[in-house]
Amino acid sequence: MDVGNIAIKIVDLTKYYGNYLAVDHINLEVYEREIFGFLGPNGAGKSTTLLMLITVLRPSEGTAYIYGYDIRKDPEKVRSLVGIAFQDPKLFWIHTPYEILIWHAKVSGYRGYKAREVVKDILTTFDMWESRNKKAFELSGGMRKRVEVAKVFIQKPKIAIFDEPTAQIDVSGKHMIWDMIKGLRDDGSTVILATNELYEADVLSDRIGIIYKGRIVAVGTPKELKDTIPGGDILEVVYDGVLTNGLIDRLRGYSEVSKVEIIDSMIRIYLNKVEELLPRILEDLIKNGVNVKSVNMREPTLDDVFIHYTGSRIKEAV
Ligand SMILES: Nc1ncnc2c1ncn2[C@@H]1O[C@H](COP(=O)(O)OP(=O)(O)OP(=O)(O)O)[C@@H](O)[C@H]1O
Ligand SMILES: [Mg+2]
Repeated sequence: MDVGNIAIKIVDLTKYYGNYLAVDHINLEVYEREIFGFLGPNGAGKSTTLLMLITVLRPSEGTAYIYGYDIRKDPEKVRSLVGIAFQDPKLFWIHTPYEILIWHAKVSGYRGYKAREVVKDILTTFDMWESRNKKAFELSGGMRKRVEVAKVFIQKPKIAIFDEPTAQIDVSGKHMIWDMIKGLRDDGSTVILATNELYEADVLSDRIGIIYKGRIVAVGTPKELKDTIPGGDILEVVYDGVLTNGLIDRLRGYSEVSKVEIIDSMIRIYLNKVEELLPRILEDLIKNGVNVKSVNMREPTLDDVFIHYTGSRIKEAV
């Protein structure tokens, strides 16, 4: 990925609740027009970090700069640049989705017919047009979440922040929201996403920061993170013929290879960057008279990455 301009610079950002350290000296840069995913289990400090970025919570130490504006010193400027879909929608109980979004459209600069049009579009896209006149307390949890998320798509802020945007939302709704978030990025917004779903982080994020116990423990593209696991790729070759010790030593000699196992008529190689090394390994085998019958390779999943950096599975960490 080309590294763009820095949209958000986070410097030693820290939050204590009383004596409890919820966010622990986070340092991070988010580039313009990327989707940056904060991936972490419940209680990791994701929402606390986002609430500091939007100036709802004051940092205990450190700060962040949004397009150069300090969240501590220029909160109004910062607020003019950001829009957030909160994790827990705080909709006023007797208002309807239509009223809430019309109000939001007006705050976002739409007038009259244009406001009604943009709200109708988004409610239709979100499959909420039929429910537009229900009161907020009559909506299901997933419907309330849809209204909350819809606000950001109306506003199209320069920095769009989504705190677990698809929690409680059904599968088709998730895919629709993921596509729309990508669309927002393609139209020029910088997106921050907090999630505890590995799949969501993987498919949506240009880069991911793994957050665990208030700290960022790893940052990179999903691919970079997977490649940092030693021996994280697995290559399995089913063969005919004889493997000489010389050949096995040669395979073990590649710096990217961390382990070679022979299981019956299969060689299993644990390595990094399998896609780069595969042609050379196949050439070694063929040159040594080994008949390659099938090749199977898999990359590590984000689950493997999470375990590598935190020592626990994300579900167990909950
Ligand atoms: N207002 C508060 N007062 C005291 N402690 C809080 C408060 N809000 C959050 N915490 C604590 O701070 C830690 C981080 O919470 P936070 O909500 O930021 O986590 P999260 O990563 O967003 O988790 P989740 O995936 O459950 O939303 C947790 O241990 C939580 O109990
Ligand atoms: Mg949260």
